Amino acid sequence: MIFCPFLLFLWIIGISPCVLPNHCDVALTKEDVRCNCSSKALTHIPTDCPSNTTDLELSDNNLEIISKKAFTKFTQLRYLFLSNCHVTSIDQSAFDNLTHLKELSLLNNPMKTFVGNIFAPLGKLQVLHISYDLLSKYPGESWSDVLHLTNVFTCSEPSNGLFA
Ligand SMILES: *[C@@H]1O[C@H](CO)[C@@H](O)[C@H](O)[C@H]1NC(C)=O
Ligand SMILES: *[C@@H]1O[C@H](CO)[C@@H](O)[C@H](O)[C@H]1NC(C)=O
Ligand SMILES: *[C@@H]1O[C@H](CO)[C@@H](O)[C@H](O)[C@H]1NC(C)=O
Repeated sequence: MIFCPFLLFLWIIGISPCVLPNHCDVALTKEDVRCNCSSKALTHIPTDCPSNTTDLELSDNNLEIISKKAFTKFTQLRYLFLSNCHVTSIDQSAFDNLTHLKELSLLNNPMKTFVGNIFAPLGKLQVLHISYDLLSKYPGESWSDVLHLTNVFTCSEPSNGLFA
């Protein structure tokens, strides 16, 4: 059953909402396609978000392993939120085709290290949310690939200043 709450209100302000069968909320605007799958106890990346999704909210799930093909379908992503997803590892190629990605959150995951320079394909990344412990494990020489990164938000010590 398709359930569309507040339809009239959102239609008036120009957003068309719908809840997909597996319960991700999709909101379309002229510029953005937001797919919100947070807090759904998901163990895999849902397949029913539109392929032109620009904002993918997956926080508070049980994804554990982010595979090579996880985001293959989502080449238009600009915002990707994976905080609090019990992520323990991310495939080296998982972010390969996310050339439009501007903001990525990996906060609050038990992941301890990287399998390679996973951020290298993210040529437009501006904002990264990551724990300091994990950040400090990233291969230092690979930062030069992330040309547009301007903001890094870390939790725990040391401060952003030391990162610079
Ligand atoms: C995304 O795809 C849907 C359905 O094909 C279309 O209606 C919408 O305009 C597209 N939105 C964007 C921002 O490309
Ligand atoms: C996404 O959905 C969750 C749970 O339904 C809600 O709490 C949150 O505010 C939503 N986030 C956005 C950006 O709409
Ligand atoms: C990236 O795109 C190329 C070309 O479309 C494709 O062959 C490859 O499998 C994609 N990689 C990933 C990890 O999605």
